Amino acid sequence: MSNVNEGQPREQWGSKLGFILAAAGSAVGLGNLWKFPYIAGKNGGGAFVLIYFIILFLVGFTLMLAEITLGRATQLNAIGAYRKIRKSWAWVGSLGVVAAFLILSFYSVIGGWVINYTMKSFTGALHVTDGQALGMMFEKLITGTTEPILFHGLFMLATLLIVLGGVGGGIEKSNKIFMPGLFVIIIILAIRSMTLPGASEGIKYLLVPDFSKVTIGVVLDALGQVFFSLSLGMGCMITYGSYLGKDSNIPQSSIIIPLIDTGVAILAGLAVLPAVFAFGFDPSSGPGLIFVTFPAVFAKMPLGSIFEVMFFLLVLFAALSSSISMLEVIVAYVVDEWKINRKIATLLTSLIIFLLGIPATLSFGPWSHITILPGRGFFDTFDFIASNVLLPLGGFLLCIFVGWIWGTEKAIKEVRNNGKISFQWAGIWSFLVKYVGPVAILIVMVRSFL
Ligand code: PHE
Repeated sequence: MSNVNEGQPREQWGSKLGFILAAAGSAVGLGNLWKFPYIAGKNGGGAFVLIYFIILFLVGFTLMLAEITLGRATQLNAIGAYRKIRKSWAWVGSLGVVAAFLILSFYSVIGGWVINYTMKSFTGALHVTDGQALGMMFEKLITGTTEPILFHGLFMLATLLIVLGGVGGGIEKSNKIFMPGLFVIIIILAIRSMTLPGASEGIKYLLVPDFSKVTIGVVLDALGQVFFSLSLGMGCMITYGSYLGKDSNIPQSSIIIPLIDTGVAILAGLAVLPAVFAFGFDPSSGPGLIFVTFPAVFAKMPLGSIFEVMFFLLVLFAALSSSISMLEVIVAYVVDEWKINRKIATLLTSLIIFLLGIPATLSFGPWSHITILPGRGFFDTFDFIASNVLLPLGGFLLCIFVGWIWGTEKAIKEVRNNGKISFQWAGIWSFLVKYVGPVAILIVMVRSFL
């Protein structure tokens, strides 16, 4: 095995709960809190949610299990895992590492805005009821030059400090604080939002489907969102799975993690959309939803400033628990394969991501006129290539690899660990990973690009 620390066993999660929290922490992030409500808003609310669920059932659970199993079986990073089983497939793992670079570089830009808003929420600077004034405040932040870069740097710094602590001491430990905190806060916020007068419109919007808005582009968005939200298709769960011991129950984890993730996405929708309707804002107002609309909502709520601090802390926790998992994909690869020590690997890769994020940051301001893909600046291009191309492609190739190259029999054997772990849906999983997953992903991708 190409492991740096030869003779030294690979680091492992301290407990079963530790792994679940870390993996759920990876899954629950800006994808749930920032992206889900606005993509659902843009794409017809309930109809989007329904399509999201269908994809979740067909490929979400399936790929979650496939990735974790691949990681545990090989005890290696995303690239090493493919290589160990079939040398010529290592490049598929590389796609994942590239995706991790791209996603983290723009993810951290939003993470920076979140830090900025968390600070603003503490100082009361957001206590403005006028939506337009809040819109201008947000515009001013994101179209700037120094400030957004600085906060993007701060977010990367926080991410790297946690990852420096290692799997147990950094990632697992921080998730044990972030995740319980996050659950409590989001439930309080959803209840608050749903009990506002006029909230029912928002609930209806999220849950009652309007199929007139459904196009193949919407289905691709939903597919991309499932991958993004579950941290699938780039080897994140391979990496986290590689720190599992043989006695771990993968089928159970593969159900719990997506359920937590989806639960939080729906709760986020229920926290954001009813409030948006109750105060007469536009649900499809895009990425600014949680930065513009939400503060306006809080400003009008009794004890709003307390809820507001809670909200931005929640978003910050969620973002960090995801960003550390992306950085870990890259760091694990560098540590395993290049035999570089963890500290240097972490510092170096964080620096590259910071630099890569700068054009993404500037694409909201001074560089907003530069387009890379038609109609998309740096930020949107990174997001599109990673979320709508690399992740689904990575997921498709993962299905082929686990279903046909490695083979589901070997995977199932790995999961069952000599019959010690029950895996009753092995037959269904096998069918899903061999046929349904790849065909579904391929159809959506090909059709939307034609
Ligand atoms: N799942 C995270 C979110 O929803 C983002 C992420 C994507 C994390 C891919 C890791 C890998 O915010």
